[in-house]
Amino acid sequence: MSKSILNICCIGAGYVGGPTMTVIADKCPNIKVNVVDINSERIKKWNDKDLSKLPIYEPGLKEIIERCRNKNLFFSTEIQKHISNADMIFISVNTPTKTKGIGAGQASDLKWVEASSREIAKYSKGKTIVVEKSTLPVRTARTIKEILEASVSKDDYDSSNAKEFSVLSNPEFLSEGNAVNDLENPDRVLIGGEDKEAISLLREIYLNWVKEEKIITTDLWSSELSKLVANAFLAQRVSSINTVSSLCEATGADIKNVSLAIGTDKRIGPLFLNAGPGFGGSCFKKDISNLVYIYNHYGLKEEAEYWQKVIDINYWQQNRITEIILKNLFGTITDKKISILGFSFKANTNDTRESPAIRICKNLIEEGGNLSIYDPQVKAEAIEFNLNLAEHELFDTEAKVGSWQFSNTIIESTKNADAVVVMTEWEEFKYINWNEIIKMMRKPPWLFDTRSITNIKKAKEAGMKTWRLGFNEKINQ
Ligand code: NAD
Ligand code: UGA
Repeated sequence: MSKSILNICCIGAGYVGGPTMTVIADKCPNIKVNVVDINSERIKKWNDKDLSKLPIYEPGLKEIIERCRNKNLFFSTEIQKHISNADMIFISVNTPTKTKGIGAGQASDLKWVEASSREIAKYSKGKTIVVEKSTLPVRTARTIKEILEASVSKDDYDSSNAKEFSVLSNPEFLSEGNAVNDLENPDRVLIGGEDKEAISLLREIYLNWVKEEKIITTDLWSSELSKLVANAFLAQRVSSINTVSSLCEATGADIKNVSLAIGTDKRIGPLFLNAGPGFGGSCFKKDISNLVYIYNHYGLKEEAEYWQKVIDINYWQQNRITEIILKNLFGTITDKKISILGFSFKANTNDTRESPAIRICKNLIEEGGNLSIYDPQVKAEAIEFNLNLAEHELFDTEAKVGSWQFSNTIIESTKNADAVVVMTEWEEFKYINWNEIIKMMRKPPWLFDTRSITNIKKAKEAGMKTWRLGFNEKINQ
């Protein structure tokens, strides 16, 4: 094996592969990094001269791309060529929940991981370190190894350039919207594997910018499992605080004060205690579902049910919010215009996968509402895809006819609206001028803030009727 890594190939130019490889290229100018993808449209966007057209929105990313792209960072569809030239290959492809067959709805679909492994088996040359960057079920490294080893022919044993593989697990812990900071200053880097030399070569890459004590090395299975469990624990915190939000509304306590009070206990900690419309994103639901599937696979039923509840509570919260909106708008939203502010699953990303806004918007459309959706980064096509309904198309159920339309500004979205529902905690929603907005709204004008981000006091002073998650206006009057 070479003394150090000079040529990296990353399969998958998505939310993880793109930013992760960009930061590696930036921190390791001596390493050539090629990010490859089967999606040529995506690669075209990564190579666009106009950096506002990058396929993902991530604060701070375009500045680094500008520094490294076409120097030691390349985005390409030439998968075969870059696999052949690489000393180290990261697999960073999607691993969504299976929609068909055994384990549908729970197990991860590994077809893209398998396809990548087969490509590596076919095109790699000499000794190659294969790194699992995707989040994978425990013991997937064994499958990857089997596929790779099956490609080593008898002739290879005599050849000086024989194929040889080492598989490492190196899960990614970045969170979207904060990816650059998370990659540059990680809490830890986790490397699982058996081959000490391969571990050391991967470690060396991270040592270019990560302190030694933050790099944890462990066995393969613990590394794979830790990634699933980390996400399950984070999601569990969100579901836990969300169950407290309804109790606050019932009792007159304020969820913000409760979060602050419990978070000051070092053992609990202040992060991840914001109550909201539920967790979204491509991973929490997928990874907990996968964990539930693994528990069931090993016959651990009680444990599976425990973690399943974290997902159930997430949907309960979304349906609960819909019911609150309906109740306050006199039980019906037929023929009413509802302004939806924010559609991404959290602020500072254009990612809409599993966004809580999807279920709440679908519920409101089914109730006959006409939604006017504004998000500073999400495009109309993404909303159409997620709602499975074209813009302006009528959704007809039992005489209730709902629809949605895209808005380019907050003003456009709120004009003639009966209510404003804040779904994502975008910074600009903090500074809405409610005196302006209220003039254009139908009366009585409602503000439903599911993220506690708006200036509720100013909205009230302007004359808005307000509801904020985890707080009961009536009890606290
Ligand atoms: P993504 O869907 O944004 O990107 C995956 C990319 O892989 C796609 O562009 C797809 O075209 C490409 N791809 C699939 N099969 C391929 C093949 N055979 N050859 C070449 N390209 C191929 O997914 P993502 O959000 O980047 O997630 C990737 C993995 O990382 C998942 O396992 C996810 O669970 C994990 N993860 C994601 C995050 C996150 O914040 N999104 C964080 C940590 C871990
Ligand atoms: C999450 C983890 O935080 C990352 O460590 C992990 O790498 C990643 O999943 C993954 O494996 O994909 P991400 O989904 O990008 O990252 O975003 P988070 O910041 O974790 O937020 C997830 C969801 O929980 C969002 O919808 C967010 O609004 C919600 N959330 C988060 C809350 O409702 N309250 C909080 O206090 C925190």
